[in-house]
Amino acid sequence: MKDQHHLTTPRRFLLVGCSGFIGSHLLERLLKDVGLEVVGFDLEAGKIEHLLGHDNFTLHRKSIDEAVADGSMQEAVAWADVVVNLAAICNPYEYAIRPSAVIKSSLFDALPIVDLCCELNTWLIQFSTCEVYGRTVSSYVPEEGYSDPDLYVQSESRTPLVMGPVSKQRWCYASAKQTLERYVYALGFERQMPFTIIRPYNFFGPRMDFIPGRDGTGIPRVLACFITALLDDEPLLLVDGGTARRTITSIHDAIDAMMAMFDRPHAATGQIFNIGADGNELTISELAHRMREIYADVSCDPRKRNLPILNVTGEEFYGKGGYEDCDRRVIDSTNATSLLGWSAKIGIDEILRETISYYYEIYADKTAVATR
Ligand code: UGA
Repeated sequence: MKDQHHLTTPRRFLLVGCSGFIGSHLLERLLKDVGLEVVGFDLEAGKIEHLLGHDNFTLHRKSIDEAVADGSMQEAVAWADVVVNLAAICNPYEYAIRPSAVIKSSLFDALPIVDLCCELNTWLIQFSTCEVYGRTVSSYVPEEGYSDPDLYVQSESRTPLVMGPVSKQRWCYASAKQTLERYVYALGFERQMPFTIIRPYNFFGPRMDFIPGRDGTGIPRVLACFITALLDDEPLLLVDGGTARRTITSIHDAIDAMMAMFDRPHAATGQIFNIGADGNELTISELAHRMREIYADVSCDPRKRNLPILNVTGEEFYGKGGYEDCDRRVIDSTNATSLLGWSAKIGIDEILRETISYYYEIYADKTAVATR
């Protein structure tokens, strides 16, 4: 049993879901530091193939259920100084077509990991989502608009979590994550389990999502939808007019925030952190226009500037599964700044240029541009 009063900067890391977008970037960063050891669990390894031979990394290719059943998860949690749980299905299309799987993976699959951390007194960093805030109060009092920041700026300790009705399956993920947060928080309160909860604000970067028809099927999140349209000379589609707003955060800033947590375990534990870039807020319509411009630059193909940007309804785009949207995500990041000394530094154009260049390098048919 570890003594929580002696929480020190971790040297041994357990990453559950280490081959997802965030996991792959965190793993890359941890393995750069001499002397840190990492154990990971994931069914996939596509995004971390370049790290597989590393001396300080051990990958278990199995599900959480399997790992708990064969005892390897218990062994890893007992060994680790910190457990980072990243496993989840975090894609709105999946919320519409298989909500029960989303709830299972985001809530029930996580419970054994939380319980093990509690029993063995291992620091748990649990990934949640800014989507737990749901819709802003402003969106329910339209006459006020966004004039009062208290009705829309999202603060960990003050802002209510506003989910739509159960028939709107959009909220299955946020509700599952909200319950998980409450369970983790309860164990921190009742059993002094060391924990940190992270609410990410739309992290963007290389390896973020699949590109339909190239390395996956279905509908990815907005960045990959727009990149697919740009690659294929198709229209960019704005769901419900593209008026929803998001705060876009570089994956590199996000990993810096995690490193700051590891450096300050006493400040980071017992806390919920919004992690996102103040100032990087824009509408989805603005995002489409900005991406079209940057893609044209990166590809040296000015025709991309003229690709149409069209409106579709949520039902046309996501089907009849009950789509509803978060209207706005404006971060209050005071907690991360004051406790971790962290704030995001990378602006939106730099994030988009890096990410678009990454996908362009991998997937664009460059011969077509060269011969045009
Ligand atoms: C999703 C998850 O549900 C969040 O929990 C997670 O924090 C977030 O992704 C993330 O990437 O961090 P959301 O931002 O709603 O949330 O997901 P997107 O699919 O990226 O949608 C963003 C906005 O773009 C929504 O308004 C959506 O309707 C719109 N959209 C999406 C379009 O207008 N066109 C598209 O082609 C795709």
